[in-house]
Amino acid sequence: MTAVDLACAIPNNVGLAEKPGLRKSLEWFDVEFRKWWFDCGPAGVRDSEAYLRTPVGVDAGGWAQYGFVPLSQYRWGVFQAPAKPGRVALFGAIAGQPVWHALPAEHRDYIRKLLITQGDTEPGSVEQSRHLALTAPSLYDLRNLLQFSVEEGRHLWAMVHLLLDHFGDAGRGDAEALLARRSGSAGNPRILDAFNNPLQDWLSYFIWCFLADRDGKYQLLSVSESAFDPLARSTQFMLTEEAHHMFIGEDGLRRVIQRTIDLMREYDTDDVAPYGGINLATMQRFLNFWAPRIYDLFGSDESARAADAFFAGIKSRVHESNYDEHVRLEGMVTVERCAPGGGEYAAVQVPMQDALNGVMRQAYLHEVTMLMSRWNKLLARAGIAVELRLPSQRFNRRFGVYADRRFSPEGDPVDEATFETRRGEWLPTAADRAHLRAVQQPVRAPGTLAGWLVPPARGINNMPALDFEYVRF
Ligand SMILES: [Fe+2]
Ligand SMILES: [Fe+2]
Repeated sequence: MTAVDLACAIPNNVGLAEKPGLRKSLEWFDVEFRKWWFDCGPAGVRDSEAYLRTPVGVDAGGWAQYGFVPLSQYRWGVFQAPAKPGRVALFGAIAGQPVWHALPAEHRDYIRKLLITQGDTEPGSVEQSRHLALTAPSLYDLRNLLQFSVEEGRHLWAMVHLLLDHFGDAGRGDAEALLARRSGSAGNPRILDAFNNPLQDWLSYFIWCFLADRDGKYQLLSVSESAFDPLARSTQFMLTEEAHHMFIGEDGLRRVIQRTIDLMREYDTDDVAPYGGINLATMQRFLNFWAPRIYDLFGSDESARAADAFFAGIKSRVHESNYDEHVRLEGMVTVERCAPGGGEYAAVQVPMQDALNGVMRQAYLHEVTMLMSRWNKLLARAGIAVELRLPSQRFNRRFGVYADRRFSPEGDPVDEATFETRRGEWLPTAADRAHLRAVQQPVRAPGTLAGWLVPPARGINNMPALDFEYVRF
């Protein structure tokens, strides 16, 4: 097991003890980061302690230990997956050549931008969700939110570590800017649009973790086999933490759906709102709201930049090592294009190298659809003839070939008047939001749970699911 230096003020396994310059830069960042955490971290729990997992190693088994940590004294640290001696580049024009430990000059701009863009999402998601600590449905859920928040913080640390280590003063300026931008700010927003939408309710938070953290997984996977070895190893470690974030979303939504099913059967009605539940139609509208924001994160299906990054050996397909061929990108991919002048959309076959973003987006959709089919099986087994669905790729997009055109959630073109008439059917209404506010009252006593979801099947680290004080105020 690769040991972590826990004695250092900044826990790490990147050899900070032998790198005084980098260590000093990270100590500067620690001070600045804590100011940001104080202002933008989870609200109302600043002086609490929570039952959190903390990395103590970086190997697949036994990398974390659990215990109570005062949030004000949390130590984020810098962790990378262990180096693989003799590792060679897997893909692109440099396949088979030794990987880079220092950054080639010709790729500096691209990688710097990649680190900044990835880094910016991490504090963005903490800022988006910071008020949810005040309305958590149980101590278990609050603890998960806090775990999520500290880990997103650590992912920012990972990107800042690479910026400081490889980009000197410029990297320090980038780190400052990462702490200065704010989710939803008019003057200095987060870079990617999705991260500027506040998560005002727990239903949105669960959908966010289910969809957006899974996008995060795909983005991280695409550089986890990069020829830039420090980036590959940093993202490999980040992925170990990301799994729990996706679990929060997937299992959270399952618990909400199960509660709704129980209430629908108990009261023999589709409208469980009067009984404190969340209607399936409301859930569908929130899925319709968030999914297009996440689709936008994948960029245009057809992208010359994505091809350049692949051939340079920097960014691959997801699970590149599972493909047979890593150099030429053989094969064709189906994408949709709009006829010039804004006419009809048509499916066209293009060489894979021209549509790598589309390849990633399609793999992502396949995974999400498969996971959602489990919820639909729960509904079918309960005799409920409703399915939860992802909206069409065309629906309500802000970027790409579908932006500025109106479609139904099924993907049929509609005019503006129709869209506005049916908006309340397709997207969250003021009544939906008011209902969520009304039912999502904080529940903070051990052994208790809000009425709009069922308990988790098991607790954290073999502790009781509900009857345990995961957070001490
Ligand atoms: Fe993250
Ligand atoms: Fe995450």
